[in-house]
Amino acid sequence: MRYIGNKTKLLGFIDEAMETLGVRSGIFCDIFAGTASVARHMKSRGFKVICGDIMRYSFVLQWAYVVVNTYPRFARLPREVGINGSWAEGHTPGPLQKVVQFLNQQTDGEGGFIYRSYCPGGTDGRRLYFTDENGKRIDAIRQTLDDWRCQERLTDDEYYLLLAALLESTDAVANISGVYCAFLKEIQPNADRRLCLRSPALTTGNPQRHQAYQRDANELIARIHCDILYLDPPYNLRQYAGNYHLLESIAEGWSCGEPEIYGKTGLRPYKHQRSRYCSRRGGQEALADLVEKAREKAGCTHLLLSYNDEGTIPAQSIEEILRAQGRSGTYRKFQRAYKRFRSDSDGPNRRYRGDQVTECLYYVRIR
Ligand SMILES: C[S@@+](CC[C@H](N)C(=O)[O-])C[C@H]1O[C@@H](n2cnc3c(N)ncnc32)[C@H](O)[C@@H]1O
Repeated sequence: MRYIGNKTKLLGFIDEAMETLGVRSGIFCDIFAGTASVARHMKSRGFKVICGDIMRYSFVLQWAYVVVNTYPRFARLPREVGINGSWAEGHTPGPLQKVVQFLNQQTDGEGGFIYRSYCPGGTDGRRLYFTDENGKRIDAIRQTLDDWRCQERLTDDEYYLLLAALLESTDAVANISGVYCAFLKEIQPNADRRLCLRSPALTTGNPQRHQAYQRDANELIARIHCDILYLDPPYNLRQYAGNYHLLESIAEGWSCGEPEIYGKTGLRPYKHQRSRYCSRRGGQEALADLVEKAREKAGCTHLLLSYNDEGTIPAQSIEEILRAQGRSGTYRKFQRAYKRFRSDSDGPNRRYRGDQVTECLYYVRIR
């Protein structure tokens, strides 16, 4: 999934650094998990994983890709979904694929919250995030998941797997240039394609009890124990809650009431999800507090921090914060050139400084 700061392409870099440092086992915590790319990779490497993020959509992805260890059976779904009784014994992808196939046939003639708020037909042409057909499909699938959940026909694993599939397929057909703070004026080829759910590919083979949280990192760190703490905080002033508001609405659903939305782009209020890490002074203070708690409360041994050279917290301050809590002589900094995430092209309001940024991985041993 396209996501600001997604580390999928930097997993090899993180692995190499951990290998150099001799960090090979223990409980790994990814506390700014986003798409959960790092958490799921560490799960596949055999670590017991704890992950968290302030956003609901991230929690859904964390659950689907990290907490779920086996393909569920979907045994309580109605007969018309077509789950075959012979699947009852084993944990195979068959039932999940069958349910995904069923959901892909759902349509909602009238459309619901997404159609009425984000599609041209439902907004008198004011918003163009999805085609009318795709908006109605998202509504229909979300409604079906809520109905099944309400009727207790889905386990947590089943529910989050299907919701993760909906989030990823929604993102693939969104008429945006990477983030949801604006839509494009013409429907682009990706948005014109029919929304199609795909079965999430699970990481099986590491059956430990992994954990997922939707919680502020500075609060969560005081409530867990981990050996390796991986930090990947926001590195600029752009709030994730504003940039991914639509995914957040789909993750939360609207069975208990539709989100209040406003403005040209249908943003939802996100005061409660504003991140301190997206402000210059606040970010520095929050990081210092987090690193201190990692040592004092979480009993963590190794601390790794991803940050790039254009981040709001200066490299010098990061070094000081880590050295202040670390064992002497253990501070290290690894660097790698990386292609920049662009959510739009250069223009009057945004000018990127070239195509490359330097991704840094800071390390300190704190116990
Ligand atoms: C750079 S992204 C992480 C990307 C992730 N490593 C990936 O590969 O997708 C930063 C994440 O931090 C989350 N975040 C921001 N402030 C937070 C906070 N105070 N506590 C927990 N998560 C926070 C954002 O929602 C976002 O998902």
